[in-house]
Amino acid sequence: MTRTSVDLCAIVDLPKISDPRGNLTFIESQHHIPFEIQRVYYLYDVPGGAERGGHAHKELEQLIIAISGSFDVVLDDGENKKRVHLNRSYSGLYVCPMIWRELCNFSSGSVCLVLASNKYDEADYYRDYDEFLQVRSHE
Ligand code: TYD
Repeated sequence: MTRTSVDLCAIVDLPKISDPRGNLTFIESQHHIPFEIQRVYYLYDVPGGAERGGHAHKELEQLIIAISGSFDVVLDDGENKKRVHLNRSYSGLYVCPMIWRELCNFSSGSVCLVLASNKYDEADYYRDYDEFLQVRSHE
């Protein structure tokens, strides 16, 4: 596989149907995001000061959306880091494989929605940062 980098992780502007009755956003596999959605999960009731993530995925691709409120995503490919602030229901952050990510600065009541390209598989995780760095340095 081509070596990934934080430069491949970018904001995806999702369609927004503005309406006085309330706005609507939709996401289609392979159209707005470059993968088939196999799993959806969300983080909520995140206590102030808590951090999530702290791992990388070998193959998983994801789109991360601040459905409500805001938070920061810190991306790290072993060489470069990038911090992205998410605070719009119609903006998703595409995260490619082999990127260490940390989610922090959750606002009160925020909800983080994640669309994922595969089912949950613990074997797809790097949870040790030093191991992740070592693997990346040998790519
Ligand atoms: P983890 O991926 O470490 O959470 P985060 O990246 O949001 O901090 O997962 C936390 C726990 O939840 C871990 O025990 C695995 C479990 N889990 C599932 O069972 N299924 C899932 O789809 C996810 C994302 C996590």
